Amino acid sequence: EKGGWSSFMAKEISEQPEAVANTLLGRSADGAVHIPELDGLDDTLRGIERIVILGCGTAAYAGMIGKYAIEKWARIPVEVDLSHEFRYREPVIDERTLVLSISQSGETMDTLMAVKYAIEAGAKTISICNTQGATIARESDAVIYTHAGPEVAVASTKALVAQVTAVYLFGLHLARLRGTLGTAEASVLLAELQAVPAKLATVLEQHAEIRELAHWMSDTRSVLFLGRHVGYPVALEGALKLKELAYIHAEGFAAGELKHGPIALIEPGQPVFVVVPSPRGADSLHPKVVSNIQEIRARGARVLAIAEAGDASVLPYADKVFTIPPASAFFEPLLAFAPLQIFAMELAAAKGLDVDQPRNLAKSVTVE
Ligand code: M6R
Repeated sequence: EKGGWSSFMAKEISEQPEAVANTLLGRSADGAVHIPELDGLDDTLRGIERIVILGCGTAAYAGMIGKYAIEKWARIPVEVDLSHEFRYREPVIDERTLVLSISQSGETMDTLMAVKYAIEAGAKTISICNTQGATIARESDAVIYTHAGPEVAVASTKALVAQVTAVYLFGLHLARLRGTLGTAEASVLLAELQAVPAKLATVLEQHAEIRELAHWMSDTRSVLFLGRHVGYPVALEGALKLKELAYIHAEGFAAGELKHGPIALIEPGQPVFVVVPSPRGADSLHPKVVSNIQEIRARGARVLAIAEAGDASVLPYADKVFTIPPASAFFEPLLAFAPLQIFAMELAAAKGLDVDQPRNLAKSVTVE
């Protein structure tokens, strides 16, 4: 079943380009996004005033990325909450609220209970699920299925890129309905999304190089991850993967937060992964992240950068650079997750751990 791969996780990482491509299939025509599953909801989607995205773990990080995209493209306020926090804080929701839940399994009890709570409160509900006919999908007003195929390894990989793809499609669908993006602008964004599978395939070619780094770092006790904008959830995901697979203490930060505390953690030799934004684009956060790199490097950090191919500005300060093909800001996460997934998996493997079934964890968390 692993088809020659050493683990399901390795196989599923390799299937990510297809997971994105299959999730895009049948959801656009003539350069515009159209999600047939949402037919009949046009008036509802034009009338909503805010969106609350719910999920747990990796799915919640897909939600954080979704917030940046939906707010930018569809100009609707979006809040992201962990499902298990949501219903215990008397959230302010009503019939003008859309609750968008994200779950690979569609059976996560925390998310299911949060969706039920939202339905009781009169909210509209849409779910992004990877499992056909799952409970959360059945409870929701509509479901946008991700077509990543079955994910067996406990660590979510291909489901995540499919979730980000689906949430982007949803953002573009909403922008079209609400008239918040020009036709040309929207079709450029769609074309960028459609270009992801081929680009992601080239990122995966760095597997052996990442493995080498992971093996070399197998005694590491702590790793930090930094990113900004949509790179921030990527940093959080990199840290989660390392915790759950390699049992190494890891933390992800928004790079702008460094000077508000975390920079005190930097001492000589501390490994720090940095997700570097593309240097292109008028509003690029690239200069700010490069200056963060200089700050941590000056304090002795070992900098492991994920940067756009051809970005020479990080080379003088990085101990290692993994490259991703050029893409505008929103599409970088879809390319930047893979090196971090591979790093965590290979480090766990180097420690002799079971990467498909880490200790204390279940694939589907069906208890609260
Ligand atoms: O099935 P779900 O997407 O609802 O699962 C949510 C989380 O439990 C899941 O993403 C978890 O964080 C993964 N083990 C992360 O790799």
